[in-house]
Amino acid sequence: MREDWEHGGFGLYIHWPFCQAKCPYCDFNSHVVAQIDQKAWCNAYLSEIDRVGAETQGRVLKSVFFGGGTPSMMDPDLVDAILTKVRATWSLANDIEITLEANPTSVEAGRFVGYRDAGVNRVSMGIQALNDTDLRALGRLHTAQEALTAFSTARETFDRVSFDLIYARQGQNLADWRAELTQALGLAIDHLSLYQLTIEDGTAFGDRYAAGKLRGLPNDDVAADMYALTQDVCAAANFESYEVSNHARPGYESIHNQIYWRYGDYAGIGPGAHGRLTLGGDRYATEAPLAPMQWLAQVGKTGIGDSLRSKLSAEDQRSELLLMGMRLREGVLIKRIEITEKIEKNINSLNDLGMVKSRGDRLVLTGQGRPILNAVLRELLAD
Ligand SMILES: C[S@@+](CC[C@H](N)C(=O)[O-])C[C@H]1O[C@@H](n2cnc3c(N)ncnc32)[C@H](O)[C@@H]1O
Ligand code: SF4
Repeated sequence: MREDWEHGGFGLYIHWPFCQAKCPYCDFNSHVVAQIDQKAWCNAYLSEIDRVGAETQGRVLKSVFFGGGTPSMMDPDLVDAILTKVRATWSLANDIEITLEANPTSVEAGRFVGYRDAGVNRVSMGIQALNDTDLRALGRLHTAQEALTAFSTARETFDRVSFDLIYARQGQNLADWRAELTQALGLAIDHLSLYQLTIEDGTAFGDRYAAGKLRGLPNDDVAADMYALTQDVCAAANFESYEVSNHARPGYESIHNQIYWRYGDYAGIGPGAHGRLTLGGDRYATEAPLAPMQWLAQVGKTGIGDSLRSKLSAEDQRSELLLMGMRLREGVLIKRIEITEKIEKNINSLNDLGMVKSRGDRLVLTGQGRPILNAVLRELLAD
């Protein structure tokens, strides 16, 4: 019988935890260090691939994603060694997607050909803003021009290139965002990630915000208008959103991210990486220690990078399926949802409010529900 994860397929996430500098808004597991022993990191990643490969033998791998941190700090030789090991471990889908997240500086762009030769076929660049004043406010190390130059190197090197922008920034109004988004769509090839700035606890922006010193952020109404504008302008340019913050030309959606949102299985390797694996009929959540040197030492000592492996109950799995799947425009296959009396009641009341609906064999958000996704999900999963 087909196992549930096969609806989403199987992918591999590799976390690289280092950056040149810490951006003040970012709460990803990223660290700035003076020196990195790339050989030691290589040994640890290869050992982890051996470990998860033994547990997932016979599977077809649909994607590999090098995320961070700043994976474009990795030596191309390190990426090559990892991908050589990946090819020896799993059968690869014919259309496998191998993405690497890159920061758009000239130094990183100099490594693009090496990554391509190692097997990377898609780059996702964090451009964030298209003017220097805002890039400085976001703590970025590149100028707008440098980002555009790195982007054009990426275009020449890879068939598939995506980039990220952050909107609802300090001092940004609706007209500013419209102009920047229009410029971005003029550059975009097949995929764009457009994130509304979130202020995260424990970041420099979080501290400044708490102290009342992060001025000029658009209020909630303006931010909601920016979201609506994003949907309209992108759809008009044939970059419809296939997920809340992700836009692609039809057929160019990110295979890797779709594995998460369709609630497939993925092995997560590296400091702080999360995974979801179905083994022996049960589904497990895995997690690794956040601190880079702790992870490295643990892999060296015990041969196991994970710090946690917990079995997910049927209820956990239902919540995760809905939390992930409702982010997608395609929604969730109804036959995958284990319907209880409570869930049915929640779905019916959200349907009556016009927030969700069934479309064919799927449960989807309506246009009215999409901008308030988090509130809809809370209601959907309420006890
Ligand atoms: C792991 S990070 C980026 C990769 C790469 N290090 C870079 O910065 O170019 C993934 C993306 O998350 C987005 N992001 C991170 N923190 C955010 C925040 N607080 N609000 C909105 N977007 C955020 C940024 O657009 C970033 O490019
Ligand atoms: S946004 Fe990217 S470069 Fe900046 S700290 Fe986060 S992961 Fe590092």
